[in-house]
Parts: sequence; C-alpha cells; structure tokens
Amino acid sequence: MLTTLYATAFYAASLLMAVALLRRIWLYAATPAPLKIPTTPAPLTKGGVTLRMFREVAFFESLFKANKWIWLFGWMFHVALAIVVLRHLRYFLQPVPMLIELIQPVGILAGFAMVAGLSALLARRLLVERIRYISGPSDYLMLALFLAIGLSGLGMKYLARTDIVSVKQFFLGLIYFDWRPLPADPALLVHLTLVLTLMVVFPFSKLLHAPGVFFSPSRNQADDSRERRHVPPARLESTQRRA
Ligand code: HEM
Repeated sequence: MLTTLYATAFYAASLLMAVALLRRIWLYAATPAPLKIPTTPAPLTKGGVTLRMFREVAFFESLFKANKWIWLFGWMFHVALAIVVLRHLRYFLQPVPMLIELIQPVGILAGFAMVAGLSALLARRLLVERIRYISGPSDYLMLALFLAIGLSGLGMKYLARTDIVSVKQFFLGLIYFDWRPLPADPALLVHLTLVLTLMVVFPFSKLLHAPGVFFSPSRNQADDSRERRHVPPARLESTQRRA
C-alpha cells in the first residue's frame, strides 16, 4: 500500500516536473528579446558571453559584486546542494560511478553546509527589516522546504537511521518497473514527501531562476551593437516572409 502510494506519487511528480519544466523553458526560449540590453560592461563576443555566463552560474559573480554576505551564504547553499544531489546519485545508479563514491564523505559535510547556508538566508529575511518588508510567502516557503529536506536527511543519517539498501532497491525498482517495498520509517517518509513537494512546485516557483538565468537578455547578449544591427529573430522571420 505504502509502496504503491509512493511509487505512483514519484512517477506522477516526475512526469509533471518534466513536462511543466520543458514547457516553461520553451516559453522562455520563444519569448522575443526586441532590444539590445546587455548589462554593461559586457563582453563584446559570443565567447565572452559564454565565459561571463559560466562565471555567473558557477561563482554567482554579480551577487559577489553586489553583496558579500548574501553571496557567501547563497553560494554555500547552492554548492552544497549540488554536492548533496551528486551524493544521492548512489541511490539511483548501479554500479555506483567512482566519482560518486569519492564524493560521499564530502557529501555529508555538504549536508551541514546546506542547512547552515539556508538558516543564514532565512535569518536575513526575518531579521533585516528592509528585507522582511519585500519578502513574500514563497520566499519563506522555499527556504523552509529546503531546510526541512536537509534537516530530515541529516536526521535520518544521525538520529533515526533508515535501511538505505532497501531505499536504493525501491528507486532502482521504479526505474526498471520492478517495484520493491519502501521502508516505512517516518523520517524517510517525511524526507520523501518533502522531495515530492519540491518536484511539484519547482516548475511553478521562483526556483525557475535556475533555467531562467540562461535566457536573461541582460546576461546572454554580447555588447556588439556598434558592430552589427540587432534584428530579433521574430522580426527576422516576418522580414523574410515579406521578401
Ligand atoms: C528521491 C530523492 C531522495 C531520496 C531517495 C533521498 C534519500 C535520502 C536518504 C536515505 C538519506 C540518509 C542517508 C544516510 O543515512 O546515509 C538522505 C540524506 C539527506 N538528504 Fe536526501 N533523498 C532524496 C532527495 C533529496 C534532495 C532533493 C535533497 C536536497 C534538496 C536531499 C537532502 C538530503 C540531505 C542534506 C541529507 C543528509 C546528508 C546526507 O546523508 O547526504 N535529499 N536522503
């Protein structure tokens, strides 16, 4: 019963997340960018834009220039999240790749770093008057959701251990359509229910900044308006149709 419930929920949430996310990315890609508006000083070439985008995504460069504290905790949270996700791949891959095995000890530290970064970001929203004024429910909810996932994960690791071999069998079973029972441990069920919630809200939430950054005209345009005429694709199509 429990296994069927969670198996169905994971299939449904994965499908919803994939379809809604692809649709959203399609909308971003199809939205015209009629003006040349790179944030200056901006790179002059496409290669330069790629490099700046890489620095932005990997190191949060613009946030670093804007605010060192938010950068420190925001970057800490995101890097830790990436490592935690990599560490979790051991539940979905058999055999476990060498890199994922090597990352395991760092992954546990990352769990703590993730929770620390999130706590600082939440404290900022609650304690800094100016930031509290501009914070909406979703700002708090997203931080709380990630915090709860991190804390329930650490809780499972240190307080109420679960049978991680069975957890892995359950998820491999989902992938190969050969269902295996899910352990009925409360901490695991809380962790997984929160993860399901994250999967469902992701494509409809502020978390879309992750794919969105790549489509931001002020970030993905080269500052070449003196070299070439900017003709937005939609305009180009209609010009060609007329010709
Ligand atoms: C279906 C997806 C997931 C499964 C099956 C899963 C399962 C688990 C399990 C079994 C543990 C305990 C590890 C142990 O006892 O050694 C754990 C820990 C943890 N989980 Fe997850 N989890 C999932 C998704 C996530 C996500 C999306 C996040 C972050 C947003 C996350 C964050 C954590 C953290 C921070 C820990 C503690 C550190 C660690 O052991 O890695 N989990 N998870």
